[in-house]
Formats: sequence, structure tokens, C-alpha cells
Amino acid sequence: MKWDEVKEGKVRMDSQKLRLKASFLYLIFLVAVVELAHRKLLLGNETVRIKKVPDLPLRFRSDGTFKILQVADMHYGTGTITRCRDVFPSHFHFCSDLNTTRFLKRIIQAENPHFIAFTGDNIFGSSTPDAAESLFKAFGPAMESKLPWAAVLGNHDQESTMSREELMTLISLMDYSVSQINPLNDDPTSPTKGGVMTNIDGFGNYNLRVYGAPGSMLANNTVLNLFFLDSGDRALYQGIRTYGWIKDSQLHWLRRVSQEFQGQKQEPLHPTDATSTTKPPSLAFFHIPVPEVPQLFYKEIVGQFQEAVACSRVNSGVLQTFVSMGDVKAVFIGHDHTNDFCGNLDGIWFCYGGGFGYHGYGKVGWPRRARIILAELEKGQKSWMGVQRIMTWKRLDDENLSKIDEQILWQSR
Ligand SMILES: *[C@@H]1O[C@H](CO)[C@@H](O)[C@H](O)[C@H]1NC(C)=O
Ligand SMILES: *[C@@H]1O[C@H](CO)[C@@H](O)[C@H](O)[C@H]1NC(C)=O
Ligand SMILES: *[C@@H]1O[C@H](CO)[C@@H](O)[C@H](O)[C@H]1NC(C)=O
Repeated sequence: MKWDEVKEGKVRMDSQKLRLKASFLYLIFLVAVVELAHRKLLLGNETVRIKKVPDLPLRFRSDGTFKILQVADMHYGTGTITRCRDVFPSHFHFCSDLNTTRFLKRIIQAENPHFIAFTGDNIFGSSTPDAAESLFKAFGPAMESKLPWAAVLGNHDQESTMSREELMTLISLMDYSVSQINPLNDDPTSPTKGGVMTNIDGFGNYNLRVYGAPGSMLANNTVLNLFFLDSGDRALYQGIRTYGWIKDSQLHWLRRVSQEFQGQKQEPLHPTDATSTTKPPSLAFFHIPVPEVPQLFYKEIVGQFQEAVACSRVNSGVLQTFVSMGDVKAVFIGHDHTNDFCGNLDGIWFCYGGGFGYHGYGKVGWPRRARIILAELEKGQKSWMGVQRIMTWKRLDDENLSKIDEQILWQSR
């Protein structure tokens, strides 16, 4: 072999190697591009994240219980830098919205509720420059718990960067939230926006059906109904500034839903049974007390009546409507943080949650608190039946999460 040929061969081999190297690099490049594009897509998926939803429908557990945690007036601000109100001076320095978060996590862990109902003033709008951020922090423990949860608005939620409509829209899109902006429109003649009723006042009017125990005779029936209502914020009425109230349009919707339950067959196996047209019991959740609640000052109550009821001057007939509907057994409200009592008006219980959040006003030495509502099913011969009893109690944010004021609100017979 001549030297030249050898050289040529080496050169050829080198160029082959080079080409091989080049194509290898090209391959790596391609793989990297595909990989990056893939990652980008994944990232993209995270940004257009789909809402996480709980198991639906809501239903009783196989032990025949459904337990609700009511959280009233969290009054969340920005988090760490939002100071506590009305705590002992020695506690003030180490107290912020994070104490509210801590209380929510503790009580979820201690009570293991099946559902959380937030009854307004969830955030304290005027204490946060970013309503969305505040909402995510306030409802954070609820979302982390993966429990279904629902909220209505108080009179302070909209005092930041979002309107009441925007707030309810965001709340309805948050993970595990079963809140709705308003009821879905099932009447083709009424106005609608994205399938949602628009001829109803406010934002955050809806009802949630709780089904019977799994595998029971009423597994596919509503055995408990939960109403959520927007009681408004503030309003001018005949030239006088007052709190909001539940309007005629909302009462009309309540009556309609209640009537629909009238037709529900309770026991599909015995459609002629006397119980087949009984409405399931309902509970209602909203923020501002109705104008009859001050009368409870003179009646027997369970819990404490420590401040004037800040209700509206307008009586739109909410109590009367509930009485005529017949299915609402108890109403859960907030707004007046240092009232935590249950009192009975015309056969219907009105119960305060008692202030939950540390940035809302309270009373020094009177622990922040939350209400628990427990519905229990009747045990039939073969399976669980409808609701037999509704109980309630409160838990204090003290060392032992002390349980107080347990009482029966309703029994089926
Ligand atoms: C708030 O939380 C801090 C930190 O856990 C605690 O030291 C403080 O006692 C709490 N304050 C109140 C009033 O609960
Ligand atoms: C409830 O619905 C499920 C699914 O459709 C069905 O398998 C079950 O038999 C129903 N239960 C009753 C009590 O009707
Ligand atoms: C909490 O429980 C313990 C043990 O039962 C008791 O000694 C303590 O006084 C309780 N604390 C409060 C605040 O009730």
C-alpha cells in the first residue's frame, strides 16, 4: 500500500468519522428538541391546569353520617404580615393570618369533616392588595385537605381587587370547590350567561344535594339539601345606609327548588309509601343574619349573645319563606364575630359560627371558634334510610380544641 493511499484512506475514514459524529450530534440535538418540546407541553399543561374535583355527588358515609365544618369570618389578609386583632398583648407579636391557617388545619385534622362551608368574610378585602392571592391563602388548607368545600360571600370580600362576581367565579374554579356562581339555568325562558341564571340577585346562590349512604336504598336520592345564599354587602335603603339582604328573586328560587323536592320519590322501591313525597331536610348557609335574629336576645339560646346583631333594616321575608317551605331546619350565619349562639325562630334554628379568623375583630380571652354540624341517618332494617337527626357543637382554638355547646337541632320524629 502506498503512503498516499494510506493517507487518503485515513482522510476518508476521518471524514466518515466526522460525518458519523455530526449525525450523532444531530441525533442528540433532535432528541433534546423533542424532549424540550415535551417538557414545554407538560409545563403548558400545568399553566392551563384543570380544576381538581372531589368525588361527587356529595353523599353520606357508610357509617350513616355526614359532617360539615362551618367556618365563619376568616377575614384573611395577606398572610404573615397581617396582624391579629383582639388577642392578649403577649400574643400579639407572634400572631398573624398564619394562626387562622393553623386553626383551619388543626380543626380539619381533629374533626375529619366530610365537607366545609365558609359563610363569608373569607377575606378582609381592605387588608389585601390582591384578592386572588388572599383567597388562595385563605382556602389553602381546604384545598390541601381534598375535601369538598363551598363558600358564600360576606360584606368584606369584595373590598379589594375583585368584584363579587369575579370572586365567586374564582372560588368556583378553585381545587375541590363545589361552590357555584349562581344556579344553573333549567328554565329555558329566563336569561342566562354561560348556563348560569342571571335573573337572580347576587353571586353565590346555589344548592348542593347530599345523597344517601352508598349501597343503601336511598343511595341515588337526595336525603339532605344545602342552600347557599348571597346576603349582599351594604346598601342604601330609603336614604339610610344599611346591610344587604336576601332579595325576592332569591326567595323565588328557594321556593322553586324546595317545590322540586316535593316531587322527589324518597323510596323508589315503595313509590306509594307515605314518605314518598316528603322533602329532604335542608340547611341554609349565608353571611348576614335575618332581621328576626335580634329577637333571640329575649329567648332561650345555646351559646353566647355578646354583641348587637348587625342585620339589615330591610325585612324581605326570609324567615317567613323558610317557614312556608318547611324543609329548612337550620340556618348557619356569621357576620357578628362574638355571637356564637343557636336560637330557634318559628321552629327554625339560627346558628352563628362564631368568629374564626384572627384578623377579624373578636374578644380578648374568648378563643376563636368554629361550628360542626353532624347529620345522621336512620338505620332501617336492611340499610341506611333518610336523615334521622341533625346535631351541632363548636370547637375552640385552644390547646385541646375544646368541644362546647353540643345540641340537637332536628330529629325526624
Ligand atoms: C399564633 O401562632 C404562633 C405560632 O404558632 C403562636 O406562638 C401564638 O401563640 C399563636 N397566637 C394565638 C393568639 O393563638
Ligand atoms: C343507584 O344507581 C346505581 C348506578 O346507576 C345502581 O347500580 C344502583 O342499583 C342504584 N341503587 C338504588 C338503590 O336504586
Ligand atoms: C387541655 O387538656 C389537659 C388534659 O386534660 C388539661 O390539663 C388542660 O387544662 C386543658 N387545657 C384547656 C385550655 O382546656
